[in-house]
Amino acid sequence: MKPTAIVTGATGGIGRVIVAQLTQAGYATLALGTNESALADLAARTGCRTRTLDICDAQAVMAALAGEKTDVVIHSAGVLGPQLALHETPDDVAHRLVAINILGTVNILRAVVPAMKAADAGTIVMLGSICGTVPGTGPALYSATKAAMHAMSANLRVDMRDSHIRVTEILLGRVQTGIHDQLGADEEFYDGYECLTPANVAATILHVLSSPAFVDLTTIEMLPTRQVVGGALFSKG
Ligand SMILES: NC(=O)c1ccc[n+]([C@@H]2O[C@H](COP(=O)([O-])OP(=O)(O)OC[C@H]3O[C@@H](n4cnc5c(N)ncnc54)[C@H](OP(=O)(O)O)[C@@H]3O)[C@@H](O)[C@H]2O)c1
Repeated sequence: MKPTAIVTGATGGIGRVIVAQLTQAGYATLALGTNESALADLAARTGCRTRTLDICDAQAVMAALAGEKTDVVIHSAGVLGPQLALHETPDDVAHRLVAINILGTVNILRAVVPAMKAADAGTIVMLGSICGTVPGTGPALYSATKAAMHAMSANLRVDMRDSHIRVTEILLGRVQTGIHDQLGADEEFYDGYECLTPANVAATILHVLSSPAFVDLTTIEMLPTRQVVGGALFSKG
C-alpha cells in the first residue's frame, strides 16, 4: 500500500510543489486549501485527492480529516500579512494572523496526531520561518506567530516522546512564491536576489522523509546563501 501524506497550504507556492513531488515519490496525497479551482488544477496535474478546508474552522478540520490514515503531514498553510509594527497592526489583521498561523496549526495537529499516535508512526513537517527566531526579519505579529510555531514544534516533540512520531520544523528564509506581495512594501523581494525555490524546500522535505525512521531532523534552518541574519542595530542619539 502507498504511504499517505496530507499537505496543508497545498495551493500555495511551496505547497503545490510539495504535493507534486510527494505524489511523484509514490505518496497518496491529500491536498488542503481554500481555493477550489487551484485544488482542482492540482488534482488534475498530480492525481492527488483534495479537500476544500479553512483551517481556522476547528470542527470542519476535524470532520474533514476524520478517518484519514496519515503517514506524513506537511503543514504549509500560513499567511504573512502586511509589513507593520506590532502597535500599528489593526485588529482584523491581528485576528487573521493568529487564527490561521497559530489556531489553524492547533486545529490540524488536533485532527491528525491521534491517528499517528494509534499507529505509533508518522512524520510531521512544519514550515516555520527565521522571522520566528530572529527579530526584525518580518512583520512583528507574523514573527510572533512563527515564534509560536517554533515553540509548538518543540513541545510537540515532547508530547510525542515514547512514540516513533517524528517532528521536523524547517525555518525558512526567503522563498520565491509571491507571499511577499502581502507585505504591501515598495521593496523588491525577488528581482536580483537568488532566493530559495519551492523545489529546494520540497527536496529537503523528501530528504527528511527518506531518513531512517529512528532519525528525526528536528530543526532545519534553510536560507539562500546570500541571505544572512544576525548583527545588532545601534543608532546614535
Ligand atoms: N515564501 C517564503 O519566503 C517563506 C518564508 C518563511 C516561511 N514561509 C512559510 O511557508 C508556508 C508556505 O508559504 P508560501 O510562500 O507557499 O505561501 P503562499 O504561496 O501564500 O501559500 C499559503 C498557503 O496557505 C493557505 N492558507 C492560507 N489561509 C488558509 C486558511 N485559512 N485555511 C487553509 N489554508 C490557508 C493558502 O491556501 P488558499 O489560498 O487555498 O486558501 C495557500 O495554499 C507559510 O506558512 C509561510 O509562512 C514562507
